Amino acid sequence: MNSCFSVILITMKLSILSLIAVSGAVSATPIATQLLSLQGGINTRYSSDITRNVFVKGIHSHNDYWRDVPLYTALSLGVVSVEADVWHYDGDETIYVGHHEAALNAQRTFQNLYLDPLIDILNQNNPNNTFTADQTTVNGVWDTNSGQTTYLFVDVKTDGNETWPYIVDALKPLNDKGYLTYYNGSTINYGPITVIGTGNTPYEYVSAQDNRYYFYDGPIATLNSSYPNTLNPIASGSLAQIVGDIAPSGLNSTQLALVKKLIDNAHEADIMTRFWEVAWWPVATRNTLYRQLLALGTDLLNADDLELASKFY
Ligand SMILES: *[C@@H]1O[C@H](CO)[C@@H](O)[C@H](O)[C@H]1NC(C)=O
Ligand SMILES: *[C@@H]1O[C@H](CO)[C@@H](O)[C@H](O)[C@H]1NC(C)=O
Ligand SMILES: *[C@@H]1O[C@H](CO)[C@@H](O)[C@H](O)[C@H]1NC(C)=O
Ligand SMILES: *[C@@H]1O[C@H](CO)[C@@H](O)[C@H](O)[C@H]1NC(C)=O
Ligand SMILES: *[C@@H]1O[C@H](CO)[C@@H](O)[C@H](O)[C@H]1NC(C)=O
Repeated sequence: MNSCFSVILITMKLSILSLIAVSGAVSATPIATQLLSLQGGINTRYSSDITRNVFVKGIHSHNDYWRDVPLYTALSLGVVSVEADVWHYDGDETIYVGHHEAALNAQRTFQNLYLDPLIDILNQNNPNNTFTADQTTVNGVWDTNSGQTTYLFVDVKTDGNETWPYIVDALKPLNDKGYLTYYNGSTINYGPITVIGTGNTPYEYVSAQDNRYYFYDGPIATLNSSYPNTLNPIASGSLAQIVGDIAPSGLNSTQLALVKKLIDNAHEADIMTRFWEVAWWPVATRNTLYRQLLALGTDLLNADDLELASKFY
């Protein structure tokens, strides 16, 4: 009798505990909850505090548009940099987003996946009311660090000279609202979003502009005075191409020294660094490479698995 009663009591206690655990989990993780409600829809709306309690991390969301919820997933994990592959076709104003042409469709556009959500988020973070009337700076996307810029890499897949003017036009509404980092001929003035052209982005065109709200992805292995930080505040390169074969145990001493030199050179020129083509398999090798790159001082971890990368910070 007694033992039966205590079993019932224990069962009751357990279910109360699990109730508390469930309700506690719901109120403590509004971001995860919001993320669930966004799952599956690329035009879903946004409520103001998605980045509440999220701390910004030096992670670059490689092929960000492949995620179930592009952009928002990255922001919910504190990922400071996202990348979209863009395509443009003659006689069509739309800029499409996708890894290859078979993946393109009329909904997956630069406007729908990136520009509209960013404008929404930034409008929410910059209300115009009596409390903000005297504010002279614009808030970024991060509640925990409103002065931190977010990087938007635009990886141009179609012809650079033909595509880039359409990107510039598409970005103009964000720039008109003061949401973009810009270069005025002498200084970079940081704003909520810093656009970095990569892939086929035309160097000749971008580097010739004295007033622009877009930047270039510098070549980390061959930086020289043609690539000042005012043109490329970030420089990138393929780790695999730079160091050659990587042993399962990670970068060896020669490779470490080479990568360190590239990172130090870039930092001396006030340029941030990112390495792509970091082996992602076996898992132990990838983990070692992440740790080695961070220890050498790289600024952005290039990641496909954002949740995993966020655990390295
Ligand atoms: C903010 O609101 C005031 C009053 O409605 C208006 O005069 C002002 O132009 C608005 N500012 C912006 C940046 O929208
Ligand atoms: C793009 O135009 C520039 C001149 O503005 C030219 O030097 C360059 O070769 C062109 N690139 C391509 C891929 O056509
Ligand atoms: C560019 O911006 C910097 C910093 O805001 C400012 O000091 C400088 O006068 C500006 N230059 C031009 C040409 O507007
Ligand atoms: C910088 O390097 C590039 C090749 O990577 C070369 O085309 C360019 O002329 C160099 N610039 C200077 C100023 O040496
Ligand atoms: C490190 O690896 C590279 C590429 O596999 C190789 O060329 C180099 O000799 C290695 N260095 C050492 C110290 O093992």
